[in-house]
Amino acid sequence: METVVSGIRSTGKLHLGNYYGAIQNFVKMQHEYNCYFFIADLHSLTTHPTPGDLHGNVKHVLVEYLAAGIDPEQSTIYIQSDVPEVSELYLYLNMNAYLGELERATSFKDKVRANPDNVNAGLLTYPVLMAADILIHKAIKVPVGKDQEQHLEMARTFGNRFNRLYNNEYFPEPYAFSFGESLIKIPGLDGKGKMGKSEGEANAVYLSDSPEVIRKKVMRAVTDSGPTSENQEKPQEIQNLFDLMKVVSTPDTHDHFNDLYNKMQIRYGDLKKQLAEDMVIATTPIREKINDIAANSDYLRKVAQHGADKARESAQRTIKEVRELIGFRNF
Ligand code: TRP
Repeated sequence: METVVSGIRSTGKLHLGNYYGAIQNFVKMQHEYNCYFFIADLHSLTTHPTPGDLHGNVKHVLVEYLAAGIDPEQSTIYIQSDVPEVSELYLYLNMNAYLGELERATSFKDKVRANPDNVNAGLLTYPVLMAADILIHKAIKVPVGKDQEQHLEMARTFGNRFNRLYNNEYFPEPYAFSFGESLIKIPGLDGKGKMGKSEGEANAVYLSDSPEVIRKKVMRAVTDSGPTSENQEKPQEIQNLFDLMKVVSTPDTHDHFNDLYNKMQIRYGDLKKQLAEDMVIATTPIREKINDIAANSDYLRKVAQHGADKARESAQRTIKEVRELIGFRNF
């Protein structure tokens, strides 16, 4: 079975866009690949979180991924900092990562521009740590978005450089795993593009949102003043609401409102009420799971321990061989 690795940012709540997009694909991949999913808490240190925030964020992300369907028996889900072998490989790879190429990384330049007062070495070597995350399990597939393509290219560069230096075909080349057509795009509620938290709190519906919050957000979604002729093409903000309906409502419900729109009899208030209720129905079981898992420290401890054990088994195998190759040998 091919090995897949994906790192999950340790900040941010999951919204419907994450859930129906990447997460559903992760859940499916669990059965087809040898999957390692980890929470990238070492990466988050570049922004200097407080100890309380760091722990809270990691817990939050772990809980939500478990509630959304990542099965700790099917795949290996772990916390990056629980696997010290990653940091060790990062150190070795750093010896052959060059200042020029690290400075040229788009993500580095973006972060320097955004936070000119916090240009630390961890930020510069972020792609090296990411390469270590992937190479430590010798993964060949990495399910990531377009924004991570350059990091993956760097992971291939660092792996190949190590191979050349030690004259060995040790690390395989990791490539981005693209979900292609199967990735459903979930629009946000602001009438513009896709659902995301950077577009503002009210644009996204989170899996942990209460029914009241969901209703409020949906009722405030952007609409126009209604169709002016029969069967007319929908403007983006209206199409977005219908697209959301396609995901959370039954086909009958969607078609019912679509007919009303085409006959110019639509009342957006009714459509939004229905959409909100269907979102509540879709998210309630997950929200309840989130609350149950978050309250179950015993379970979380076991999952984290089990994940760390499995991840370390794989990581230790790699580190042992890497040390041999480098020339760290026992007397
Ligand atoms: N850089 C990734 C992001 O911002 C997170 C990440 C860290 C990652 N290490 C990884 C993703 C290894 C895939 C593989 O989303």
